[in-house]
Amino acid sequence: MNTEIQRTVLASVEDAVASERDGARAMERVVAILKSEMPSYSWVGIYLLEGDELVLGPFLGKPSPHTRIPLARGICGAAATEKQTIIVDDVNADPRYLACSLETRSEIVVPIMSGSHVLGEIDIDSDRPAAFDAEDKTLLEAVAALLATKLERSRRTL
Ligand code: SME
Repeated sequence: MNTEIQRTVLASVEDAVASERDGARAMERVVAILKSEMPSYSWVGIYLLEGDELVLGPFLGKPSPHTRIPLARGICGAAATEKQTIIVDDVNADPRYLACSLETRSEIVVPIMSGSHVLGEIDIDSDRPAAFDAEDKTLLEAVAALLATKLERSRRTL
């Protein structure tokens, strides 16, 4: 990814998140923007933490069998437990990996944090090996921070 694309996508996400009335709609828009703007992102989804499980929210791509992931399982569980972004260049070489599609070759999982508290995470799969670099991480962490603010606000207004 180059910095120009990163800037454009982040600006679209900022506009979308600011214009939506609640966190649920904002998450849907973010998933749609990332899926349409980033050709290497084959599957884009958001999980929300409920108790000790990650529950699948909006996603685009093939249906995943993993709609509820315990914190102790998967790359998703690891990112939420470690509270940090995980990039896996070759999912088939990672014993933590829970398969969603046979075509998937690499994955990035970015926690959505409110302070030290995990609200959920952005999970993206690619059919290309090693599709995610430091710029994807920077972009997606900025997106996660925008979503965190929106989700906190929607919770307060419920
Ligand atoms: N691969 C993830 C599971 C979610 S699916 O990719 C949608 C994992 O290992 O946690």
